[in-house]
Amino acid sequence: MLVLGISGSLRRDSYNRRLLAAAAELLPPAVEFVRWSGLARIPPYNADIDVASAPATVDELRAALARADALLIATPEYNHSIPGQLKNALDWASRPFPDNALRAKPVAVFGASTSLFGAVWAQAEVRKVLSASGAGVIDEELAVASAHEAFAPDGSLADPTLRAGLVGILEQLLDAAGVPLARAA
Ligand code: FNR
Repeated sequence: MLVLGISGSLRRDSYNRRLLAAAAELLPPAVEFVRWSGLARIPPYNADIDVASAPATVDELRAALARADALLIATPEYNHSIPGQLKNALDWASRPFPDNALRAKPVAVFGASTSLFGAVWAQAEVRKVLSASGAGVIDEELAVASAHEAFAPDGSLADPTLRAGLVGILEQLLDAAGVPLARAA
């Protein structure tokens, strides 16, 4: 089973990338985790070329999504919304519609921000975009607030409640992908 991770931040020391890494550490050994690192190379969405002659990075994203059994997205929040580059990538991924690589794909969304709110609005919008694209978005949410203080030196989430929340999200995601955590261990 393969879980693909995408961080919506392009920042070198991104807390959202750390959040993905913390999630990957909690996955059972039988689950392979791959972080997609092409987000910075995604061009602006253009409907003139969105399917027949899509840019190479878009083909790469669609292929990575198609290979994955489930998707994890960690999103920051910019001005109460989705970072533009992540929205662009999701728009490319949503085409061709309805038979896109997101269709019925189990997806979990979580997010980290340095504010007290943990990117909740951006997460809600990412869920909305994914649902519009036909993805199977799981209900569980996780908002990591004060992200600059949220991680232990070993990269795990320092707060046990948040850590339990992250496990809960992964359980739901693997369940939705048809591989319950207990069976994947
Ligand atoms: C932010 N940040 C932010 N945080 C938040 O909770 N709500 C917001 O609306 C915004 N808006 C915002 C706009 C812009 C342009 C920047 C650069 C930042 C703070 C942001 O969440 C914080 O910098 C995170 O650490 C970014 O995520 P990464 O890069 O650490 O993953």
